[in-house]
Amino acid sequence: MRRSVQYTQNGDIDQLHIVEANAPSVGPGEVRVAVRYAGLNPVDLAVVGGAFGEAAGPKGNGADFSGVVDSVGDDVTDFSPGDLVFGGRPFRSQTTHLLIRDPADRLDKIPRGLGTEVAGGLYIAGRTAVAGIRALAITSGETVLVTGASGGVGIIAAQLALNLGARVIGTASQANHAALRNLGIEPIAYGDGLEARLREAAPEGIAAAFSTQDEAEVARLLSLDIPARRINSIGAGPQVADTYGVNIAGEAVAERGDLAWLAKAIAYGHVHVSVAGVFALEEVQSAYRFLKGSHPVGKVLLRVDADPLTVDQREFLSS
Ligand SMILES: NC(=O)c1ccc[n+]([C@@H]2O[C@H](COP(=O)([O-])OP(=O)(O)OC[C@H]3O[C@@H](n4cnc5c(N)ncnc54)[C@H](OP(=O)(O)O)[C@@H]3O)[C@@H](O)[C@H]2O)c1
Repeated sequence: MRRSVQYTQNGDIDQLHIVEANAPSVGPGEVRVAVRYAGLNPVDLAVVGGAFGEAAGPKGNGADFSGVVDSVGDDVTDFSPGDLVFGGRPFRSQTTHLLIRDPADRLDKIPRGLGTEVAGGLYIAGRTAVAGIRALAITSGETVLVTGASGGVGIIAAQLALNLGARVIGTASQANHAALRNLGIEPIAYGDGLEARLREAAPEGIAAAFSTQDEAEVARLLSLDIPARRINSIGAGPQVADTYGVNIAGEAVAERGDLAWLAKAIAYGHVHVSVAGVFALEEVQSAYRFLKGSHPVGKVLLRVDADPLTVDQREFLSS
């Protein structure tokens, strides 16, 4: 049987429940993944709330996942049963068995050294961070601001900017400042007086900004004399491109290959992604409450009680 998180009408966390159905059988060109971890993102909850205009359910939830290929269609040559894989499948991932119709476009093999936990939470945040940082064309020695630098997207974006040689200032709540400092990001509290704190921290000016918050934040960044073409907003909506001339590069413009590239950077230790909480699939409501209310640094994941990994798979991941 397959167990999946589903909702039947738009609303909040309490709309999410578990449904059972027969596990899907695999057709030509398809790959079935026994999911191990499914990452949670704020956008997944916004979808349940109807923010993107989807009709009410029954609908699956979530995008990020990792797992093990358990069955492949006749003509699939790139993947075999037992492969450790990860990727994203919007509205589907929080399930025990995931059918991937377009594996060449959607599935990557987990590289050596990257665990199935971290891989299970990378798709949305990782691809958004890579695409957004690419749009900023950062050069070594620049001072770069990342707002929401303790968040799922921001913490990856900030480290990518560091790896490009930038000095990185990141906004976060006080409780998360130590975690940012440990990564080499200079933390600053958001909220009242932020502009003054930023002017003091960077009297020479801020060259570029990765903005994760609302339209008012974009306006504040412009008032700090950061050029519009050096601001990338992922949180304010598409209208800020026309209103202010800023970039809005996010998940939608991520390129095939971005996720695999980031996964290798994490496996090699150039980018650090932590896991803040792991909940059973059946605890999906608690998991979202934790994501929404606890300001976690690191990904929040749902765990599926899948078969244990084989010795070979475990050795591969840890080597
Ligand atoms: N355009 C796209 O393609 C795309 C893709 C993914 C996400 N997004 C959007 O980007 C945003 C960030 O996503 P995420 O996954 O990184 O979210 P997240 O993990 O929930 O992180 C939110 C970040 O915002 C900070 N924050 C919370 N309240 C704040 C406030 N009042 N003022 C300033 N900062 C505040 C948090 O800091 P503390 O936790 O330290 O308080 C944290 O760093 C969301 O709006 C999401 O929907 C867009």
